[in-house]
Amino acid sequence: MDLLNLMEKRHSVRAYSNKKVSQEMIDRIVKAGVLAPTACNFQPVKIVVIESDKSLEKLSSAANFYNAPLVFAVLAKKDEAWHRPFDGMVSDQIDASIVTDHMMLEATELGLGSVWICYFNPEIIKNALDIDNGYEVINLLAVGFEDEKSKVVPKKRKELCSLVKQI
Ligand SMILES: Cc1cc2nc3c(=O)[nH]c(=O)nc-3n(C[C@H](O)[C@H](O)[C@H](O)COP(=O)(O)O)c2cc1C
Repeated sequence: MDLLNLMEKRHSVRAYSNKKVSQEMIDRIVKAGVLAPTACNFQPVKIVVIESDKSLEKLSSAANFYNAPLVFAVLAKKDEAWHRPFDGMVSDQIDASIVTDHMMLEATELGLGSVWICYFNPEIIKNALDIDNGYEVINLLAVGFEDEKSKVVPKKRKELCSLVKQI
């Protein structure tokens, strides 16, 4: 599908069927994340794939995953990210978010639903994933097959002219 059409079609899915996502699909989504650009190509990120019932159960008190059978946690490490010398801006969250966006679009391309999640308790997630070495959880991406009961709300965006300035 044409990329712009795919982006038009994509929407946040908040109801999933319990059908599992195949390993081949998981591999493609992860590959899309690894292909994402990062500042200076430092790739200060890590992708954790959470798909066993035991691991999903461990995470369940940290966020609402809408019954998705698969969750990706995208982590980043500030120390390994690019620091802008002028003002010290660090690219960790930007890098992790481009990775997440690539993965979300690949999931859409595969016919899967997804929802990006930032409303989570980071301490519970970190403990459940057994994260150390300075990685922080930046984004969670819940993925699965959209349930037939899922409500698709028409895409609502601000007018193009209010967001874009061409000079
Ligand atoms: C950075 C970010 C954080 C988000 N966090 C959540 C969240 O915690 N829970 C949720 O249900 N949706 C979350 N969303 C999904 C947005 O609410 C959703 O993308 C937005 O309303 C536009 O709708 P659409 O994705 O259907 O186009 C998040 C999206 C982004 C980009």
